[in-house]
Amino acid sequence: MYAERVLSGMRPTGSLHLGHYHGVLKNWVQLQYEYPCLFFVADWHALTTQYDDPQGIVDSTWEMVVDWLAAGVDPARATLFIQSQVPEHAELHLLLSMMVPLGWLERVPTYKDQQEKLENKDLSTYGFLGYPLLQSADILIYRADKVPVGEDQVPHIEFSREVARRFNHLYGREPGFADKAREAVKKLGSKRARRYEELRMRFQQQGEQAAVGQAHALLDEAHDLSHADRERLCGYLEGTGKMILVEPGALLTEASRMPGVDGQKMSKSYGNTITLREDATSVTQKIRRMPTDPARIRRTDVGDPDKCPVWQLHQVYSDAACQAWVQQGCRSAGIGCLDCKQPVIDAILREQAPMRERAQPFLDDPQLVRSIIADGNSKARHLARETMRDVRQAMGMDYR
Ligand code: TRP
Ligand code: SF4
Repeated sequence: MYAERVLSGMRPTGSLHLGHYHGVLKNWVQLQYEYPCLFFVADWHALTTQYDDPQGIVDSTWEMVVDWLAAGVDPARATLFIQSQVPEHAELHLLLSMMVPLGWLERVPTYKDQQEKLENKDLSTYGFLGYPLLQSADILIYRADKVPVGEDQVPHIEFSREVARRFNHLYGREPGFADKAREAVKKLGSKRARRYEELRMRFQQQGEQAAVGQAHALLDEAHDLSHADRERLCGYLEGTGKMILVEPGALLTEASRMPGVDGQKMSKSYGNTITLREDATSVTQKIRRMPTDPARIRRTDVGDPDKCPVWQLHQVYSDAACQAWVQQGCRSAGIGCLDCKQPVIDAILREQAPMRERAQPFLDDPQLVRSIIADGNSKARHLARETMRDVRQAMGMDYR
């Protein structure tokens, strides 16, 4: 009923690394060819833990956006914006905060986890508890049905679904809903109306899920139906009332196995990263200094790739022929570790070359980035305002 729409956000962490690229950005770049996409910098979310350093957040935001563009996120396809520049997120967050039970927030698994992880910071704040609800507002305000996230964020998407359901339950039943819905059925014309009623019965009495899809298809064909009537008919069909906010679904991004230069998962906090646009000398040095199979002390010792972090990089970067060369050469001491590392170095530099190239105009003229974001902010804001208009109206708080 609503157009399919992808939305995702990232907290500003400054320059991104290859783990972000393989874990998130490559996926975003792919999605922008398949769906209308909105990607935003979650600067308010950063503020929940970094409230003592807003300037750091702002600087990181600009750096991160350059990396998005470098990775191939295309502002001509996707809308790129900054959360705090669309203040409607805050308005929806406030309204939702009135109806969401505290217990729901306290039970979100990331709440206690994160508090314990960052125990040197006072996170017994109102904003930090509300983190998942702010995220719900981010999603619901665009009626996004597809939210690409990693596994750790799935509870937040589930939470957002519950929030949407609660909102629709509380405010989706306008006065005289059933009468208005029956009026809307008549407007379908007698043939479609009969078919709609039949499908509705099949769903409500026999629980036939396929009937819902067929009824939606039928409504899609009824072009002269008003937006409000279409909404009513969707709600009436499933017995849920009017759907004001759309329940989102997670688009689970497969966990990236991107290892850092020490074999652990690549992460800023482990200090084992290679940044997206790191210069070639530094990349070469980091790979050449990588630890290898500890049993391979001398060039003549045989090794076992399964015990070597370099092999993990070959699994990301090398084709079958190269991988076979590594396996054979390592296990027979036919190749040295520096020989083995060279194809990885070459592959990373090859991957980075177009990123460096795409970033250059934005480094030369930061105003370009500003204007991409200004454009995205205003597009996003336009969509957010539409939803807020419906939300206020559903609550009867539009004072018209
Ligand atoms: N919490 C997300 C993270 O840490 C970032 C985020 C904020 C987000 N709002 C969102 C992701 C909305 C998807 C949709 O990664
Ligand atoms: Fe690791 Fe390659 Fe050396 Fe084997 S040859 S230990 S896989 S770096």
